Amino acid sequence: MVRNVAGLLPELEAEDFYLLSGVEQGMRFSEWVQREKLPDYSSLTEDEVEYRLERCLKRGLIEKKTIQYEGYTLQFEGYDVLALRTFAERETITEFGSPLGVGKESDVYEVRSYKPHALKYHREGYTNFREVHKERDYASDNEHVSWMYTARKAAEREYETLEALYPDVAVPQPIGQNRHAIVMEKMDGVELSRTRLEDEQVVGVLDLLVSEISRAHELGYVHADMSEYNVFVSEAGVTIFDWPQAVPTDHENADEFLRRDLENILGYFRRKYPRRLPEDLDADSVADSIVDGSFDTVFETNG
Ligand SMILES: Nc1ncnc2c1ncn2[C@@H]1O[C@H](COP(=O)(O)OP(=O)(O)OP(=O)(O)O)[C@@H](O)[C@H]1O
Ligand SMILES: [Mg+2]
Repeated sequence: MVRNVAGLLPELEAEDFYLLSGVEQGMRFSEWVQREKLPDYSSLTEDEVEYRLERCLKRGLIEKKTIQYEGYTLQFEGYDVLALRTFAERETITEFGSPLGVGKESDVYEVRSYKPHALKYHREGYTNFREVHKERDYASDNEHVSWMYTARKAAEREYETLEALYPDVAVPQPIGQNRHAIVMEKMDGVELSRTRLEDEQVVGVLDLLVSEISRAHELGYVHADMSEYNVFVSEAGVTIFDWPQAVPTDHENADEFLRRDLENILGYFRRKYPRRLPEDLDADSVADSIVDGSFDTVFETNG
């Protein structure tokens, strides 16, 4: 897990951020940014660069390597603090809270501005990056800057999807996005996987969920990573979250993804609540009705 950098914010100075942004800029061209280029990239004097490098190194925000030249690269912590500072400047975030969740590919924290929100740092490419990184003898390549690029793209895609779907589909309200991070409404409730529904609620909750999937489809999106872990259930209903891998409905695999999403959900309900679902309910016919726009309800309607 990437260290929480919120506690560093008060002790970091404007020039530390110039330096970090300078390294970030240089990383567009190579993973290890040459020491000599930093005054330019960061608009700081030689002496300032020297001093700021030391402060940022000490705090684990950047890393140093000397091979053919002295080079510096951002750590995920450095990238986090840049995003966090931007949100703080915009007053999207005024207080930082405790972790809400650690996913395979994200760290999620509670934050506040005028009300509680959730901050999600995307970590796509992270594991990969660490592995590659350990045994690599870098010098040239651009390819490993990819953790930064991959994580940022994921955040952008998730944010765009939330903006397209909110409020017609039950998703967290999008509040802001910067670099690899998004701020969104903090959801009430718990993951579907951790809920034990009463017998008489089972079909109702499934119906709500499939209706949201259907409405997202009408608006042109398939979630494509649907499971009991990406749905929150509360008194007020269901919320579908975790959208970075969503695809538009005209994507060549959209149909297949929709079917898989529905199979995941129906499969989960069938395993957890045997004999509670209508006998003839199957993922493919639900998918067909969503695609042709005739989906109405998963309740048995004949009669
Ligand atoms: N808006 C939110 N409000 C409250 N909690 C949230 C919010 N978004 C995420 N969480 C919590 O953080 C966890 C991880 O979030 P999310 O599923 O979006 O990340 P992920 O890393 O993509 O997950 P996965 O492991 O499915 O890839 C969630 O399971 C949930 O508990
Ligand atoms: Mg998830």
